[in-house]
Amino acid sequence: MASSEPGTRPEIDWPALTAEAADAMRHAYVPYSNYPVGAAALVDDGRIITGCNVENASYGLTLCAECTLVGQLRLGGGGRITAFVCVDASGSVLMPCGRCRQLLYEFRAPGMLLATVSGVRTMDEVLPDAFGPQNLEN
Ligand code: THU
Repeated sequence: MASSEPGTRPEIDWPALTAEAADAMRHAYVPYSNYPVGAAALVDDGRIITGCNVENASYGLTLCAECTLVGQLRLGGGGRITAFVCVDASGSVLMPCGRCRQLLYEFRAPGMLLATVSGVRTMDEVLPDAFGPQNLEN
């Protein structure tokens, strides 16, 4: 199991971050799937940001919890995500969907960690060999 390297970053309070995600989950708008998701992340300036999924009648245009979280990241001043967790209705840790792993990759801090169903993992472990901004550099 990957973990943060001692001395390189403050200890991450995963239970507190997971509780923030569970609180955010209660704001989800999910009349179509009835599957609320909440997300929370630690930003490299110390902020905690959250998100919830927001559906609409055109099902495919659903906003995952990660989408609204990234909106909060930008609206709150930007920055980079150092730690991330998302949870389902029961408060259990959920794997971010494939699209949202890409979204989180865009805004990762170096060494970003995610709470996953198989323990704490790095971004690189959950999205290996990622396509990213580096591919678009001339
Ligand atoms: N969902 C998320 O919010 N994040 C994920 O990473 C997985 C899926 C939402 C989208 C939809 O509203 C519901 O879960 C069921 O797919």
